[in-house]
Amino acid sequence: MTLIIAVDGPAASGKGTIAARLAQTYGLPHLDTGLLYRAVGAKVLADGGSLDDEAAATQAARGLDAAGLSDDPRLTTGEAGEAASRVASFAGVRAALLELQQAFAAQASGAVLDGRDIGTVIAPNAQAKLFVTATPEVRATRRWKQLTARGSDIAFDAMLADIQRRDERDAGRGAAPMVQADDAVLLDTTDLGIEAAFDAARRIVEAAR
Ligand code: C5P
Repeated sequence: MTLIIAVDGPAASGKGTIAARLAQTYGLPHLDTGLLYRAVGAKVLADGGSLDDEAAATQAARGLDAAGLSDDPRLTTGEAGEAASRVASFAGVRAALLELQQAFAAQASGAVLDGRDIGTVIAPNAQAKLFVTATPEVRATRRWKQLTARGSDIAFDAMLADIQRRDERDAGRGAAPMVQADDAVLLDTTDLGIEAAFDAARRIVEAAR
């Protein structure tokens, strides 16, 4: 039976880890759709373009090769996330990435996709939809710990400001804004460790399929 699982939510909510573990549990392919937008932003910058240039960003999105993105460490930085969020507000970029994501979701087995608009735009017919969130302070703390462990010296306040700016941009844009789908189940991970969050996610999927 086909099982499509849509996992949406803001940065550092735990959605990526939850999506990866759900994919492993159910034996499904997994697409981290944030990587597509990160790759588009990185391409625009590498070509010396401006993140305000919709035509350039759309061109970069049309030519995107999705293979190997998860192995590219340049895409995991805070700058790449910020660039992603800038280009993700362009309708042309979103349209250019739509088919690739829908084709991924249409595999015979089904798939797990995580992002901001999976349950609303990419896979509105997904059997299971989760909207994973946590307070901005807790999300900033998680991201800050990850980055400082990797040797970054970013200040916590700057991290929190980044997260809040990205939330506002992602939720406030006209094209496919980040919003909980009407039929998605809210999973607040503020007070949950990863094991408890994953158990809760699995119960939501079991109840939905
Ligand atoms: O999830 P991640 O932090 O990698 O996403 C980076 C940015 O890409 C987000 O802030 C958002 O602007 C954009 N994005 C999106 N739609 C998705 C996935 C990511 O707009 N489905």
